[in-house]
Amino acid sequence: MLTHTDIKKLTGLTLGEGESRPVQIKGWVRTKRGNKQVAFIAVNDGSCVASIQVVADLNAPAFPEDLMKRITTGACLCVDGRLVPSMGKGQTVEIQADKIEVLGEADPETYPLQKKGHSLEFLREIAHLRPRTNTFGAVLRLRHEMAYALHTFYHERGFYYLHTPLITASDCEGAGEMFQVTTLPLEQLPMKDGKIDYSKDFFGRQASLTVSGQLEGELGAMALSKIYTFGPTFRAENSNTPRHLAEFWMNEPEMAFYEIEDNMDLAEEFLKYLTAYALEHCGDDLRFLNDMYDKELINRLESVQNTRFERLTYTQAVDILKSSGAKFEFKVDWGVDLQSEHERYLVERHFKRPVILTDYPKDIKAFYMKQNDDGKTVRGMDVLFPQIGEIIGGSQREENLDKLQRRIQELHIPDKDMWWYLDTRRFGSAPHSGFGLGFERLLLFITGMTNIRDVIPFPRYPQNAEF
Ligand code: 4AD
Ligand code: MG
Repeated sequence: MLTHTDIKKLTGLTLGEGESRPVQIKGWVRTKRGNKQVAFIAVNDGSCVASIQVVADLNAPAFPEDLMKRITTGACLCVDGRLVPSMGKGQTVEIQADKIEVLGEADPETYPLQKKGHSLEFLREIAHLRPRTNTFGAVLRLRHEMAYALHTFYHERGFYYLHTPLITASDCEGAGEMFQVTTLPLEQLPMKDGKIDYSKDFFGRQASLTVSGQLEGELGAMALSKIYTFGPTFRAENSNTPRHLAEFWMNEPEMAFYEIEDNMDLAEEFLKYLTAYALEHCGDDLRFLNDMYDKELINRLESVQNTRFERLTYTQAVDILKSSGAKFEFKVDWGVDLQSEHERYLVERHFKRPVILTDYPKDIKAFYMKQNDDGKTVRGMDVLFPQIGEIIGGSQREENLDKLQRRIQELHIPDKDMWWYLDTRRFGSAPHSGFGLGFERLLLFITGMTNIRDVIPFPRYPQNAEF
C-alpha cells in the first residue's frame, strides 16, 4: 500500500536518469491535455503553488475512455504511480500513472473555475471556491506563514500570548463603530423610562463585538510585562474602501516599561522581521505573485527590509504636505486626520521609505494616549507603508490616573464603565506602550494584492456575509 505524499515534497526533486520511486498523490485537476496516446494531467493539492504533471498512457488497460472522460478540470483524483525525471519543460519530475481513481467529479458544464484567468472581482463572488486558484493558494499560504512568524517573533522575545475577549462592554477606540451583541427580541424590546432595558439582556448590560483587545491587553501587560493579542476584531464603519473590513485580524503587543521610542523600535524590528521571513521562507509564492500581479513586489519587500524608517512628528508632516504643492482630494491643515493619500505622499513621494509619525493632535486620537506637556498633542504613533498608508497604530499610554480621568470626563466616556481599566493606574501604575498591526494590511503589503478583500479567506464588508 502506498501512502499519500504532499505534492510539495515531490516538485523540485531531481532524480537520476532511469531512476524512479513509487508515489501516491491526491489533489485537484488544474488542466488536462494530450492526444489519443497519452494524457498530461496537472494536479495541485494546495501544499505549494506548483502542480505536478501526471502522465497516463492511454493504451494501457488501466485508463479506459470512460475513466478519462471523468477527469476534468476541478475533479479530485488519487493517483498511484512512479515519480520519474521529466523530459518536459518547467518541471524536474513527473508521475507515470499506474492507477487513477476519481474521488470527486466536477461537471465541466457548471464548474465555475473551468477556465483560467478569472478577474479578482469575479473570484470574490465565488469566495467558497477561490482557494482553489493559484493566486488564493499563494495568498492563503502566505497568510499562514505570517501568522506563524508573528508568534515566533514574540515568543523569541519573551512576550506571552494573551487571549482577550471578543464580547465586550467598552468602546476602546471611542469611535462608536461597534456591532451590538444581544439576545433581546428586536421586535419587542423591553423598555424602562423610555429607554431599552438592557438589564434584561443576556449579559445584563449592553454588549458589543470588540474593536480592539488593547484595554484588556494593558491589564495583561501590567502583570506579565510583555504580552500580545492576535484575533478577530470588528468595526461597523460603513467604509467601502480597499483597506477596510468589518471583520479583520489585529495583533496588539503591549509592554510595561516601554516608552514611545521603544515602541517605535519594536514596530520597526517587527515589520522587518516579518518581511525577511516572507522573503526567506515563501519564495515560490512570492515569485508567483510578483510575476502575475506586481513586478515590483519582491523589490519593495527587500527595500523595506534594508531601510531605516523615517521618524517625524505629525506637525512636521503637515508642514511638508502643505508646502508640497501636491493636489490632494482632502485639504491638509494642522488638526485634521491624515487621509491615505497624504500618508502615501509622505511614504512614496517624499521620503521613499516607511514613515513613523508621532505626537498627533489629541482631538483626533483615542482617550488613552499619553498627553504631552504642550496640552495639544499626545504620544501616538502611526507606521505608514508604501501602497498601504497606515499599517500600524499605537501609542505610549497615559499612566497618570488624574490626567487619564480628566480626559475620560472631557470626552464624556461613562467612567463607571472604566473602573477596572483605571485600577491599573490606581495600583502599581507604570509607563507602558503598545500598538496594533492590521494583519490584512500587512498581507496587502506582503502579497502585493491591492484590495483587502483578497487577503482574507472570507471577507466581511457592508452588504456581504454570504460565505
Ligand atoms: O489604529 P487602530 O484603530 O488602533 C487601535 O485599535 C489600537 N487599540 C491599537 C493599539 O494601540 N493596541 O487600529 C490598528 C490597526 C490600523 O493601523 C490598521 O492597520 C488596522 O488596525 N485596522 C483595520 N484593518 C482592516 N479593516 C479595518 N476596518 C481596520 N481598522 C483598523
Ligand atoms: Mg489608527
